[in-house]
Amino acid sequence: MNSEQLIRQTLGLPAARATRKVYFESFGCQMNLVDSELVLAGLQRKGYVLCHDRMDADVILFNTCSVRQHAEDKVWSRLGQLAHVKRQRPEVAIGVIGCMAQNEGSRIRERAPHVDLVAGTRHFSDVPALLEQVQTQHKPVVALDIDRRMPEERDVLTRPEPFKAFVSVMRGCDMACTYCVVPKTRGSEISKPVREIHDEVLRLVGDGVSEVTLLGQTVNSYGKRLDGRPRFSQLLEVLNEVQGLQRLRFITSYPMFMTRDLWRVMAECDKVMPYLHLPVQSGSNRVLKAMNRLYTKERYLALVSEGKEICPELELATDWILGFPGETDADFEESLELLERVQFQGSFVFRYSPREGTPAASELVDDVPEELKKERQQRMLAAQQAISRRKYAASIGSSVRVLTEGVSKRNAAMLTGRDSWYRLVHFPVSESIKPGDYLDVRITKATGLSLTGEVV
Ligand code: SAH
Ligand code: F3S
Repeated sequence: MNSEQLIRQTLGLPAARATRKVYFESFGCQMNLVDSELVLAGLQRKGYVLCHDRMDADVILFNTCSVRQHAEDKVWSRLGQLAHVKRQRPEVAIGVIGCMAQNEGSRIRERAPHVDLVAGTRHFSDVPALLEQVQTQHKPVVALDIDRRMPEERDVLTRPEPFKAFVSVMRGCDMACTYCVVPKTRGSEISKPVREIHDEVLRLVGDGVSEVTLLGQTVNSYGKRLDGRPRFSQLLEVLNEVQGLQRLRFITSYPMFMTRDLWRVMAECDKVMPYLHLPVQSGSNRVLKAMNRLYTKERYLALVSEGKEICPELELATDWILGFPGETDADFEESLELLERVQFQGSFVFRYSPREGTPAASELVDDVPEELKKERQQRMLAAQQAISRRKYAASIGSSVRVLTEGVSKRNAAMLTGRDSWYRLVHFPVSESIKPGDYLDVRITKATGLSLTGEVV
């Protein structure tokens, strides 16, 4: 018995567990980052510590993404690099968790036999127990049950940023967009009860958070299967009352669930930011239909004008998929036209990537050549940039409310923060300003990506 063990025994303390080191990488979206926090909190409770060198780790974990082929390719290549780590140190446990684990299942171990744990998207909270199983039974473990509800114990201390937090309010997706692997990887929609979310937000605010972003695949359809069927707008109203909370945002919204009621809450609740991510995917009705998006270009435009009428400060961001099977030049021109009509603040522009098992991949031919997809992507990005530049320039001379984040990575004399429309704002360093402070900044310069100004 060493001296620490002796002291613990004398004082009647439980035996200290040996510290195990975990190397962790998170790929993909915000939702994955929150799930990564959940896993890391669970591991920390079991005595694991985070380490930054794979060679030093007892456990190597990847939380993965499947939304496009490129995302999976990155993880396959990382796993390839790990084969020699496993040869040198067979005792290290390697785990693939999240969307790609769910999507590829046991194929992961066929292609990368050095992987010890494959755990899908409803097993994040079991990761410590599954790793224990790997280590005590000395054999690989695969856990892929997607129909279960998983307990979520969030440890507020594992959050990467002190003033901002993401809160997942629902898991899974009930829509059936023909290109999308998410319903398969994340299962069907389950919402967290309002009370649980409210408690989580209270705890986060108590721990210094002032900006909360609510997350869900179709976050505005929140509440569907809960007792009493609370609406998403009601959840926002409840959270708007939380003392000490300053900002509420939410991603991602599905167009058809933008009700009048929700626009009204966006306009009336002072903490709800007037910024909305509302993926449109295409401006061609034919393509929208083939994507099974359940709205037309006209319906989308009508929703946007209703939103702007009720909530005049509203700014929108969107997602596009270019080169969907059968997309013609004329279809693409319609998308450009819609971009101009709506005047989005920003766009995420993706090239179509066929995902095995989705209706688009099995029934349609991926017939737009990669070169043409890239050309359309470049044209769309250029068109968006021109709009963003005009929009950002229009703020010169006005003052915006900014949440200070920290010193700029590129220029140590400048601080950065985000305004109410989530735009990046630069302003000069001053001793009296700390990260987490809210300030008014008068804008003097603008590019299409950021604003610069002076604190007023
Ligand atoms: N509702 C989700 C959407 C998840 S996927 C959310 O929370 O954001 C994010 C975006 O990826 C989609 O809006 C779509 O534009 C894009 N995407 C999804 N599947 C794709 C595919 N097979 N190829 C290219 N882009 C895709
Ligand atoms: Fe995917 Fe469509 Fe749901 S894009 S996440 S199936 S709303």
